[in-house]
Amino acid sequence: MSAGLTVVICGGGNGAHALAGLAPTVSDFKEVYVLSTFPGEAEKFTAAAATQGGEIHVCRTKEGPGGQDVIVKGKPSKITEDPSVVAKADVVVFVVPAFAHKGYLEAIKPHIRTSGSKAPGGHVILGAMPGEGGFDIQAQHILGADIFNNITVFALETLPWAVRLSEYGKSVDILGTKYAVDMAVTPWNMGRATTSVIQKLVAHDHPKLTLVPSMLTITLSNMNQVLHPSITWGRYHKWDFVTPFDEPPLFYEGVDETTGVMLWKVSDEILEMKGFLEYKYKLDLTGLRHIKNWMLRSYSDDIGDQSSFHRMINTNKGYQGLVHPMIKTDDGKYMPNFGYRYMTEDIPVGLVVTKGIAELCEIETPNMDVLIRFGEKVMNKTFLSHGKVDGPDVCLTRAPQAFGIKTIEEFIDKLRY
Ligand code: NAI
Repeated sequence: MSAGLTVVICGGGNGAHALAGLAPTVSDFKEVYVLSTFPGEAEKFTAAAATQGGEIHVCRTKEGPGGQDVIVKGKPSKITEDPSVVAKADVVVFVVPAFAHKGYLEAIKPHIRTSGSKAPGGHVILGAMPGEGGFDIQAQHILGADIFNNITVFALETLPWAVRLSEYGKSVDILGTKYAVDMAVTPWNMGRATTSVIQKLVAHDHPKLTLVPSMLTITLSNMNQVLHPSITWGRYHKWDFVTPFDEPPLFYEGVDETTGVMLWKVSDEILEMKGFLEYKYKLDLTGLRHIKNWMLRSYSDDIGDQSSFHRMINTNKGYQGLVHPMIKTDDGKYMPNFGYRYMTEDIPVGLVVTKGIAELCEIETPNMDVLIRFGEKVMNKTFLSHGKVDGPDVCLTRAPQAFGIKTIEEFIDKLRY
């Protein structure tokens, strides 16, 4: 790989803290900056980190040779809200919920170099971990051909870790590191070199970043779009939307058989699209897996009981203790927080994108539709109109329809699939 690269990490949440603590420990990177355009965040982040000499402490839970915690301490060069820092960057990585990608793309557009980078091929690397649905569609649309065709774009299928802040601006816990994570790169010929840079950036040989041939694989294999809406629907579709909860319900451990079947069927619908696109258009969607195979690959030994799919989820050690996002009421009870990214990200930038592509393929998705309608109800949005991705809120999504794409041929051609 090229040494002496300058990195800009965009974001200020769980994942951004982890990367901001890990990446500066890698000698290949000359400087690592954090950019947060979220109002007030850069200042708060800087002030908190300053109390420990500017270092971010990353606890790699139980990852030591004897199963002990490992603390990694890294000091970014600067945490800033000024997007012009991107003018120095060889690598720009978005580590934010996907609804924030648009704002970052617009903010950094005037500052991205289209020549003279030290990154492989002389092209700035720009990508998202995770990409969620349609990162490349949105990047191409916002940056325009002059920039998009002169940089390297990548997306990861998911975040490399299960990670939670322990103290804002200071420390973060990596609760679990995925064994392997797929990554796509466009243009394809930059794939290997770019994967090697991003593997260095995560400061570990795990997860093993595996190059897959198509960005479309990343869009369709975004597992958050399957997991979060299905599990949220499963918990609340029979609830009266009024009675509060005494405790936040367990998220993964609370999955019942009905929800397990929903997860399975939504994944089946996505695999039907894969079969169609590979058969009819000869796309290579290697890496797009059924949710069961994805879970076995991502969590392998962490799964206790494989007797049924919902039991696999219930007994996955990596998921233990996580609860549904809730809002505490004045009388100490809990109501669901449908404004959390499990809905606000995973429906418009997840399932609606996939549904939009299914529609171009003329493939029916009755189970996905149930989840999208549930999301519409709780978020008070309308993505579907008469079953088509044509509702007034499609403009908030990254479905191809939001960018005026009308046929599957146009979609494949425009995005270089
Ligand atoms: P997070 O929830 O910690 O992100 C919060 C941050 O996003 C904020 O601190 C701010 O920097 C930014 N943000 C939020 N709203 C914004 C807005 N309106 N405008 C601009 N910026 C805004 O997210 P986290 O946990 O770091 O996750 C990042 C991505 O990784 C998400 O897509 C998430 O679904 C995915 N992911 C996270 C996992 C985890 O364990 N944290 C696991 C798997 C995937």
